[in-house]
Amino acid sequence: MSYKNILTDFRDGICTITINRPDKLNALNQETINELHDAFEAENNDPDTKVIVITGSGEKAFVAGADISEFADFSVPEGEQLAANGQNVLFDFVENLSTPVIAAVNGFALGGGLELAMSAHFRVASDNARMGLPEVSLGVIPGYGGTQRLPQLVGKGRAMEMVMTAGMIDANQALNYGLVNHVTSQEELLPLCYKIAGKIMRNSSVAIGAAIKAVNANYKDGVNGFDVEIKEFGNCFGTEDFKEGTSAFLEKRKADFPGK
Ligand code: COA
Repeated sequence: MSYKNILTDFRDGICTITINRPDKLNALNQETINELHDAFEAENNDPDTKVIVITGSGEKAFVAGADISEFADFSVPEGEQLAANGQNVLFDFVENLSTPVIAAVNGFALGGGLELAMSAHFRVASDNARMGLPEVSLGVIPGYGGTQRLPQLVGKGRAMEMVMTAGMIDANQALNYGLVNHVTSQEELLPLCYKIAGKIMRNSSVAIGAAIKAVNANYKDGVNGFDVEIKEFGNCFGTEDFKEGTSAFLEKRKADFPGK
């Protein structure tokens, strides 16, 4: 499929999705959000894609937020619809994919940009990255899950300070906060993500999908994560990957997972 605002590149089991509006610092307009949905869905359904890396084009920004020009004159119902639709189509959607998603945060990740990075399963940043939720400086609040995911990742007090001040933190502070897992140079950002992806790909993709579901269950209202873990654990025993993984261990050979 060809897209107007994003690029996709597949090699060696890894799909890199690049948001490609560098002149707008990769701001997320509706069209880009819809294209991202389609690309994530297609890659998640492709058994050859084992890991998805999401990044921004250019050296300045991952994503500098939702496209402010699109919603500046919205009414109350339109604002609510914007947040609901975005969460449904992209942010919750990405978090719940069974294919691992790594955000390669290569510059500004602000507002919807940080919210997108936080929807990914984990984050790696380049040393020029700057992250924040500046929405209250615009008279609005984060609407793409930021008020929920930032406290989950950095703790309530730090999240409150970041949201209230609308300030940015640099890559090292994000590392210190646990918002990103690694910081590296701009040149090494994608290679490091691919190296981590390589480690992930050695394992059972079916088990990884089940693990994502179980971990996410801890953050869902009315869902008991321990119960989900028990169910997903049990389901693994019916998979070909489990048979291959355990046989390979007992036969002292490397597992070759069929991904089923
Ligand atoms: N929505 C729409 N356009 C945006 C944007 C956004 N969130 N962020 C940046 N852009 C556009 C700018 O309008 C500008 O476009 P123009 O050249 O047509 O005028 C272009 O991207 C470059 O941005 P600019 O502000 O000139 O770059 P800078 O280096 O001076 O500043 C930022 C970089 C990130 C500090 C600044 O762009 C910014 O504050 N952006 C908004 C961040 C924000 O509030 N995001 C949350 C939205 S809810």
